[in-house]
Order: sequence, then C-alpha cells, then structure tokens
Amino acid sequence: MKKIGIIGLGKFLPKKVLTNADLEKMVDTSDEWITTRTGIKKRRLVAKGEATSDLAVKAAEEALKDAKLKPLDIDLIIVATITPDMPFPATACFVQEKLGAKNAVSFDISAACAGFLYALTIAQQFIARGNYRNALVIGAEVLSSVTDWQDRNTCVLFGDGAGAAVLSEVKSGGILSTYLGTDGSKTGLLFIPGGGSRNPVSRESMSHRMHYIKMQGNELFKLAVTIMASAAQTALKAANLECKDIDLVIPHQANMRIIMAMAKKLGLPKEKIYLNIDRYGNMSSASTVTALCEAVKEGRIQKGDIVLLDAFGAGLVWGACVIKW
Ligand code: COA
Repeated sequence: MKKIGIIGLGKFLPKKVLTNADLEKMVDTSDEWITTRTGIKKRRLVAKGEATSDLAVKAAEEALKDAKLKPLDIDLIIVATITPDMPFPATACFVQEKLGAKNAVSFDISAACAGFLYALTIAQQFIARGNYRNALVIGAEVLSSVTDWQDRNTCVLFGDGAGAAVLSEVKSGGILSTYLGTDGSKTGLLFIPGGGSRNPVSRESMSHRMHYIKMQGNELFKLAVTIMASAAQTALKAANLECKDIDLVIPHQANMRIIMAMAKKLGLPKEKIYLNIDRYGNMSSASTVTALCEAVKEGRIQKGDIVLLDAFGAGLVWGACVIKW
C-alpha cells in the first residue's frame, strides 16, 4: 500500500479586516456577544472584484513553493468550495489556467465546511491507485458574497480565505485513515435557498433575500459537537490509535464553544487544539487547511506527530482524517 502525505501547504487571506467593532455599526450586536458566543474577534474580506479562484491561486502558489514543485508537476487539482467564481465552469479550471498547471485534470467539489476533507480523500484515492502523482487540494471561499449583512444571526460568523495542500507519495508517515459521512435529512439547517435550479434568480428571490445563507444555529451547534467527536473516534479507530495518541487536532473553525465541547467529549486538553477562529471566523472549506498550514508554519506540528483533522458542515457532511506528519 502506497503512503500518501501532504508535502506542501499554503494559505491566502485577503487584506481587508472586519472587526467586531465594525459589525457593531452594521447590525444590532456587540463585541462582547460575538466573542463570548463564538470566539471570533475579526475576519478577512475580499476587495471588490476579488473572487474565489484569485484567493485559491495565491494559496496554491505558496503550497507549490513549499513542496518544491512547479505547476507542470501537478496532474490533479481539486477545489472544494461553496462559493465558486461562477456556477460553471468549475473554479478549478480558472485555477489551472492562472497557475499554468496545464497537465492537471481539474474539478470542484461541494461539501461545505467538510469540503477540504472530502477533496483530500478523493485525491488520496487517485494517487494510491496510481492515476495521478501530485495533487493540489484547495479549500477556498468568498463567503462574504453569500452573507446577509443585515442578519446578525449569521453575518458575524463568516470570513473569506483560501488554503492549499500538495499531496504526493511519501516515504514515511502520511495519511493513516480518512472517514467521511453525510446526513441529507438535515439540509434545511444550513443552506442558500435561491440562485440554483430550485429557485432561480428572480426579482422575487432577490426581494426575499434567498441568495444568502440561512441557518438554524442552535440545532447545528448540538449536532456539530456530537458528530465531530464521533468522527474523530471513527478515524482514530481506523488508524488503530486512541485520543491519547493525538499530538494536535485541527478542527473546523465554526465556533470556539463547539470546538471546546468536542475536545471535552474526547478528553483532550486545550493545548492539543489548534485555533485560528479568533482571527478569521468560519471560512467553510478554507478553515481546516488554513489552520493546518498555520500550525505547521508555527512549529506546532513536528515530524512524527499524529494530527487529526475534523470537520462538519452544511449537508450535513462531516469528515475526519488522521495523519502521521
Ligand atoms: N448579536 C447579538 N445577539 C444575537 C446575535 C448577534 N450577532 N445573533 C443572535 N443573537 C441573539 C438571538 O436573537 C437570541 O436572542 P433572543 O434570546 O432574544 O431570541 C440570542 O442571541 C440567543 O440566540 P441563540 O441562537 O440561542 O444563540 P447561541 O448561543 O446558539 O449562539 C450561534 C448562536 C450561531 C453563535 C451558535 O448557535 C452557533 O455557532 N451555531 C453553529 C453555527 C455553525 O456552526 N454554523 C456553521 C456550521 S459549519
């Protein structure tokens, strides 16, 4: 069995910072409410005209440099996103062109906040089967384009950003297990009702603000804690490991309280949890990979460490992955 691992990481966060104080001027909220309920202090937003592929390309360039590979070495690009540049073609096609990665088969996947883990698992299978050698797996989002800036229940939560990983065969370590799950009975908890084939864009869809995120936060909160804890246990079991073997958890960054409740369920101390939610908020598919990139660059992950990636999102979808670094 081939060992497949991450050989390079990159991230890109747009320049503009939106703080909780800025949000206080836009909706009826407070820094105190946002901080205590979510752990978020600020988030990044794109400039006018900046799209998901622009962020993805910058993250990908950094990941390629880190992996010491050239664009032409890449033969597979998967972009996980729920905010593509356009309904079609795939954002991955724009990324391929801008990178000059002419040899890469390129496509998008839609698995919301678990998107990076879904894409990572797909890429791992292709490389293990020998179809491709070097894959670029990207999580990139411009959530500000689908956020209702008049809805205080949601607008305080999200941010824009991108992260990228290069996957390849490795000599030691690598991905030890992956686990994915879906529960389509709960699509109504987090969704964008308008703009697709169900409710195409119309004057009516616009006036009902149907092209923005709708969310039942409370229900999602409880499900996220239970599902992320159980996904972690399933992936660990598949790798023949236990919670005590984990050196660092990279959780999806949706809410600090969700992450801490999950850690408590698993009996993990807070020192073993990587957090960047305070700086960026929830960036959906970009959250986990950006956090992984920062954790590695800050020296929080060393060779030989056991790292657990764990994510949950709209669908519902979830995924966990155990990697030996
Ligand atoms: N500022 C001030 N008050 C706010 C607010 C804001 N930004 N947003 C909501 N409120 C109010 C609500 O209107 C409600 O007021 P009421 O009691 O008068 O009705 C009160 O705060 C409590 O709302 P509730 O929804 O119970 O808060 P909560 O503790 O569940 O926190 C979330 C709300 C959204 C932060 C939390 O439920 C959450 O993070 N859920 C998961 C979301 C998620 O993970 N989504 C992505 C999945 S990947």
